[in-house]
Amino acid sequence: GLVDGRPRMYTEMLEQPASVERALRGRLDERFATAHLGGLEMDARELRAVRRVKILGCGSAYYVGQMGASLIEELARIPADAEAASEFRYRSPVIEPDTLYVAVSQSGETIDTLLAVEEIRRKGGRVIGLVNVVGSAIARACDGGIYLHAGPEIAVASTKALTTMNACFALLALQLGRVRDLSVADGRRLVAGLQNLPAQIEQVLEGEERIAQAAEALATAESLFFVGRVRGYPVAREGAQKFKEISYRHAEAYQMSELKHGPLALISPEVPTVAIVPDDELTDRNVAALHEIAARGGPLVVVTHPGVDLGELRAERIDVPRNERELDPLLLTVPLQLLAYHAALTLGHDVDKPRNLAKSVTVE
Ligand code: BG6
Repeated sequence: GLVDGRPRMYTEMLEQPASVERALRGRLDERFATAHLGGLEMDARELRAVRRVKILGCGSAYYVGQMGASLIEELARIPADAEAASEFRYRSPVIEPDTLYVAVSQSGETIDTLLAVEEIRRKGGRVIGLVNVVGSAIARACDGGIYLHAGPEIAVASTKALTTMNACFALLALQLGRVRDLSVADGRRLVAGLQNLPAQIEQVLEGEERIAQAAEALATAESLFFVGRVRGYPVAREGAQKFKEISYRHAEAYQMSELKHGPLALISPEVPTVAIVPDDELTDRNVAALHEIAARGGPLVVVTHPGVDLGELRAERIDVPRNERELDPLLLTVPLQLLAYHAALTLGHDVDKPRNLAKSVTVE
């Protein structure tokens, strides 16, 4: 899998600005400050009739689904949540006629996600797919959908597919929002934010050297925490997952607010924490929680925005450019890919051949 002597995962990370650009192409409408997703096969009346959104995916696709659920709740004010597709069918789920089900999958072949789609359709529910591979099993099984246009993703550790999934959720949330109460001004704000993403992803990638240094320090730890809250929590979950998958270190994602209700006792100089601290209404609370970690000697890597004041805190800081607050999680995820990648390289692992993992799991 090496391309010009570089692992696939690396070249695919670098492709992300172009992938996101492709995912957005032809789908933004500046005049009406909205998105147009023809593949949904739903008119404005049908989009308005959606009372709830349920997102299903596995692994990283599930975590991006959580980011997508926030986008939909925030922009369209429709209750939305994500669930692991691998669990869904085992609990005899209630399928509601006015719920829009969304299946998320890079490969379009993950059996757990496919079986969830079939279960919903068997019960008469409407499912749309967010899928990369055109004509794949999940794409064919859905009522309609949004192709990611990420380009072929070969590396087991997913990168560009995840950022394009995230961008496609933003498009869906924008379109759902604009047939409801999202204002023209907010629509414009989001359209401009989306257009800024490719250049901002590029900026994050340019910070590789600093991220690589932080990764080297983390790689020696046997165990680490990834923490965030609300919008930052799925980012932390995806960061921990990626870290585990290719560095084989134990990484646990936790809600920052729950640390004090549980694992704070595990924080020590041997257990570093990677914290997601966007510049938002929760920044002060997040910084206060970081002080709790620092007081116990826990080393800190803080993924944050320029201008966030960390005060006296001793921390490795990774600044990510700000976008609109709803779109920030997409950008905050990118440095965590580089963090996992460089930790794995430091440890001498073959990042393109993570042990015990397949690109897509097509058997039950
Ligand atoms: C897992 C892969 O088995 O499947 C993950 O190891 C991936 O990397 C997940 O995110 C879902 O795959 P897909 O193709 O359905 O997005």
